[in-house]
Amino acid sequence: MTSTIPTAAELTELVRSLVRQHRGERGPLLEILHAVQEQLGYVDPAVVPLLAAELNLSRADVHGVVTFYRDFRSAPPGRTTIRLCRAEACASLGAEQLVRAAEQALGIGVGETTADGATTLDEVFCLGNCALGPSAQINGRVRGRVDVRQLLAAARGGGR
Ligand code: FES
Repeated sequence: MTSTIPTAAELTELVRSLVRQHRGERGPLLEILHAVQEQLGYVDPAVVPLLAAELNLSRADVHGVVTFYRDFRSAPPGRTTIRLCRAEACASLGAEQLVRAAEQALGIGVGETTADGATTLDEVFCLGNCALGPSAQINGRVRGRVDVRQLLAAARGGGR
């Protein structure tokens, strides 16, 4: 994942390169969008018209897919991304209270990033760690029985 905002030329090159790699596949849009997010950390809105042109789709088609899947971000994430599980098992173990406490402590809502770019708070629906809920994924690493104190420590420590 890159840490700087790409230029228009870099985005064009990235999209063309990914389209070349996925040429011949049936319905490559999702794969390409995942690859864009993996490389950039998000799907830059400028990618939408580029991909539409390259794949001969309408902008609305591409935009619809980007906005339908919650996994796609439209802005760069913070240095630490905290994804709180809100599925049933974790909800029964206090996930909703944890979400509210995290929102209050970080001063942002789910889906947002702190103004200093340090932390993104997100939601997820089951991390396969149900018995150890409430569960969270912090910079890709799953943790169980988390509390807001641990989340804040991770946010301060860059996800460690
Ligand atoms: S319900 Fe939260 S990890 Fe499965």
